[in-house]
Amino acid sequence: MIHSSSLVATAAVFHLLAGVVNAVNVSVPLAPPSGAQNLSPTLVSFSIEQDNWPDWTGIDSRNEFVHTALSNLASLTGHPPSIRVGANSEDHTFWSPTVTINEDQFPPPNTITPYPEASSITVGDGYYQLSRFLPSGTHMTWGVNFGADNVTNAVNMAKSIIKAFQTSSVANSGVVLDLIEVGNEADLYKNNGLRPSNWTVNQYVPDWESVAGPVAQAAGITSRTGPVSLQGAAFAGQGFTPRQIFSLGILDSAPGKAISVISQHRYSAAFCNGGDFPLVSFMSKPSIRGNLTIFNADIAATHQQGLRYILGETNSIACHGAPGVSNTAGIALWVIDYTLQAATLGIEQAYFHEGVGYKYNFIQPITLNRSIIDGSPLNPPQPPHVQPAYYAGIIINTLVGSTGSSRIVELTVDDTNISGYAAFEGSKLVRAVFVNLHAWLTSSTGTRPSVHIDFGFTGGSKTGTATARRFLINHADDTANVTWAGQSFETASGLPSGSVVTESVALSKGLDLPATEAVLVDF
Ligand SMILES: *[C@@H]1O[C@H](CO)[C@@H](O)[C@H](O)[C@H]1NC(C)=O
Ligand SMILES: *[C@@H]1O[C@H](CO)[C@@H](O)[C@H](O)[C@H]1NC(C)=O
Ligand SMILES: *[C@@H]1O[C@H](CO)[C@@H](O)[C@H](O)[C@H]1NC(C)=O
Ligand SMILES: *[C@@H]1O[C@H](CO)[C@@H](O)[C@H](O)[C@H]1NC(C)=O
Ligand SMILES: *[C@@H]1O[C@H](CO)[C@@H](O)[C@H](O)[C@H]1NC(C)=O
Ligand SMILES: *[C@@H]1O[C@H](CO)[C@@H](O)[C@H](O)[C@H]1NC(C)=O
Ligand SMILES: *[C@@H]1O[C@H](CO)[C@@H](O)[C@H](O)[C@H]1NC(C)=O
Repeated sequence: MIHSSSLVATAAVFHLLAGVVNAVNVSVPLAPPSGAQNLSPTLVSFSIEQDNWPDWTGIDSRNEFVHTALSNLASLTGHPPSIRVGANSEDHTFWSPTVTINEDQFPPPNTITPYPEASSITVGDGYYQLSRFLPSGTHMTWGVNFGADNVTNAVNMAKSIIKAFQTSSVANSGVVLDLIEVGNEADLYKNNGLRPSNWTVNQYVPDWESVAGPVAQAAGITSRTGPVSLQGAAFAGQGFTPRQIFSLGILDSAPGKAISVISQHRYSAAFCNGGDFPLVSFMSKPSIRGNLTIFNADIAATHQQGLRYILGETNSIACHGAPGVSNTAGIALWVIDYTLQAATLGIEQAYFHEGVGYKYNFIQPITLNRSIIDGSPLNPPQPPHVQPAYYAGIIINTLVGSTGSSRIVELTVDDTNISGYAAFEGSKLVRAVFVNLHAWLTSSTGTRPSVHIDFGFTGGSKTGTATARRFLINHADDTANVTWAGQSFETASGLPSGSVVTESVALSKGLDLPATEAVLVDF
């Protein structure tokens, strides 16, 4: 009896081991299912911290590195990423008639915050005119100070913004002003001293109207359908919600009638006081979905009002990111899944927040003299460069394509670590992307796991071959040295180096997707 039961146990173990040859069958529709959502050509957009804005654009001439990095993204969808300038420093900015561009005061750096935000920013007309150095066709959102509750200053800022876009140099640059945002993360004002601690959403609405009203009037903004309109909400968390301000009647006020877009902000964690965040907790389908589905009711309420819905500021970890997470190759996989998941929920754009020297940047716009990790001196300094997350933007924009009207659905993939999305143009399946979030780390040992993906097409049959391009990462915790379709964007110019590598995939055979890798399939 003992002998025979141990035989049963051995057989069970053998069966388990055989099961390790992981394979999944993914059903891919050949035509867009009814729930398909639009893929905006500017799905991947950027939010720039206002204090160091001139570093992004250049002052006397354009910042060539930034221009190239944005143009790479633009070439894939036909539209440069949209740019919002604002965030925390939006509520610390004053306009002055005697300042040419800007004068900032910064607190000293420390190990947790090697590149702190300016505590005060004074700007002049030349500051907004730097917008002309962005790629032609860029659409912009500019932030105006609501934190100071100073109507005179808010109106001065708005007038200077409008004036800048009327100058011939900005008009001729093809950079377009779409939106003005009055106040950043007003739901936090009661915590950061900009309003009393008992300030609630009930006071927010009339307070916002009292500043946004004169701003809209000074800017000549009268409706949500004009060339320039207002961005609403821009809340940090769920303290105030779009649903609350709708039911408090904000959209019936004069400035509220000019709101065309509702923005909410999202970070999956916060590093304001440091902390230890495991990268694997980000490389997780349930975590990514959990951080986005919280917006479902607000997205629905916004669409019901006929307004657009965006994540107007987002990234992995608030307060500029966390080392070992936000600056890694693994987070690039997080960005792909997070952004495409957002698109399937009806979120039109995700503005990834960037500042000079922030850990979560896609792009480091200027030479850095201090480590982004701990503020230690960098000798030699590090020239402008892209971080791994930048590749996610390139891959997403490749999936989006250049028709301006592609659509997306998430594919059901029966593996806890693999997500998949299909893109359609017109009535036709065109591309799919698969992301294997299984973390393969520097500390991992043994054989790198891999999952075989078989395709099962629905709504017809499809045979022959497809073309695959791969996003290759040595380790999820690497901070550099990744490639997309054989090319590196980690170059001095920002232009890709190396020749494009593609592979042919027999549709009847499927493909292998190793841990910590993504693949894009062109059908
Ligand atoms: C995938 O589908 C094929 C054909 O239907 C089947 O033979 C195979 O067992 C399936 N594989 C998995 C992992 O379900
Ligand atoms: C409001 O802003 C104006 C213009 O910058 C400034 O002159 C004035 O002192 C400010 N008011 C307060 C109360 O800070
Ligand atoms: C908030 O607190 C202040 C005192 O700090 C008080 O004067 C004010 O009436 C309070 N406002 C509300 C709405 O409770
Ligand atoms: C958001 O993401 C973080 C990090 O991945 C995770 O720890 C957290 O649980 C997620 N939040 C929700 C609401 O799912
Ligand atoms: C690095 O040092 C150079 C030379 O001192 C300076 O011009 C530049 O602004 C510094 N960069 C940063 C990000 O502080
Ligand atoms: C998913 O990935 C994690 C590491 O990121 C790993 O521990 C887990 O075993 C993987 N699950 C599957 C089903 O492969
Ligand atoms: C990238 O690769 C180069 C050459 O193989 C190596 O010297 C460097 O340390 C790597 N950098 C990182 C951040 O992994």
